[in-house]
Amino acid sequence: MLRRHAQALWAPSNRGYLYQLIAAAGWTSLPWLPLLPQPLALIEVGASAGLCLLPDRYGYDYGRATFAGEPMLRCAVNEATPIPDSLPQIVWRAGLDLNPVDLADADQVAWLETLVWPEQAERLANLRAAIKVAAANRPRIVQGDLLGDSLARLCAEAPKDAHLYCCGPTPMLKAFEAATADWPRAQIHVEYFTPKQEADKKGGFVVELARSGQEFVIPEGKSILQVLLDAGVDVDYSCELGICGACEQRVISGTPEHRDAILTEEEQASNTKVMICCAGCKSERLVLDL
Ligand code: FES
Repeated sequence: MLRRHAQALWAPSNRGYLYQLIAAAGWTSLPWLPLLPQPLALIEVGASAGLCLLPDRYGYDYGRATFAGEPMLRCAVNEATPIPDSLPQIVWRAGLDLNPVDLADADQVAWLETLVWPEQAERLANLRAAIKVAAANRPRIVQGDLLGDSLARLCAEAPKDAHLYCCGPTPMLKAFEAATADWPRAQIHVEYFTPKQEADKKGGFVVELARSGQEFVIPEGKSILQVLLDAGVDVDYSCELGICGACEQRVISGTPEHRDAILTEEEQASNTKVMICCAGCKSERLVLDL
């Protein structure tokens, strides 16, 4: 087995990957999964043995809140971390992988365990406990490639009342959006790590702040957000890339030129909200509830 996997075994990224596998399953995903519209259908591309498909079956210790279960995943959080009251409602789950790991095969399980550094006893114990959970629950893992039609076929099997959520690199998100093109857009959620489109900085329109009565001419080369910040207007923002949603504002009148990756097609078409870090404007004036 060591000879067969020798090249990958010595690549540090593989050991890191296994750590991420366990961590992503619980520490990082649990706080936000219950915040999404429920119920959820989970699909993971690159699912390996499916350990990340079971975040509702593990235990968590966030210090100020715990959820019983094995493995008990411990994580330090700060005040800003949203700790959910309950576990997510996952009604369906499936994984896609070029070479799924079969947990009924002792050799493949041994390979997974080999990916934990020798001194990391707690991580190995967590992995073994997670493998037990996965072996008992047997999440469905399909052998297939993101670039083929496997993802579309998998998405078609998900319950039609479930919400599908996808985050990852842009090619994966594009493949996911294509695979779910016939789903109601309100049930499809994607999180881009990079901008979906370039910001519209053509300028040449006026932004009016309805509450303060202030007006600003947006010049070419600047976003609405930049102009407001330069003028000392107190507005929330974070990524300035149209991918976090922090700068969302309510539109009172006018027609934004949307460039964000947050709003659904229906929300963009309704023109009732706008991400001011990246949007331009199709009308001469944009009135915001600010
Ligand atoms: S600041 Fe992140 S979407 Fe605008």
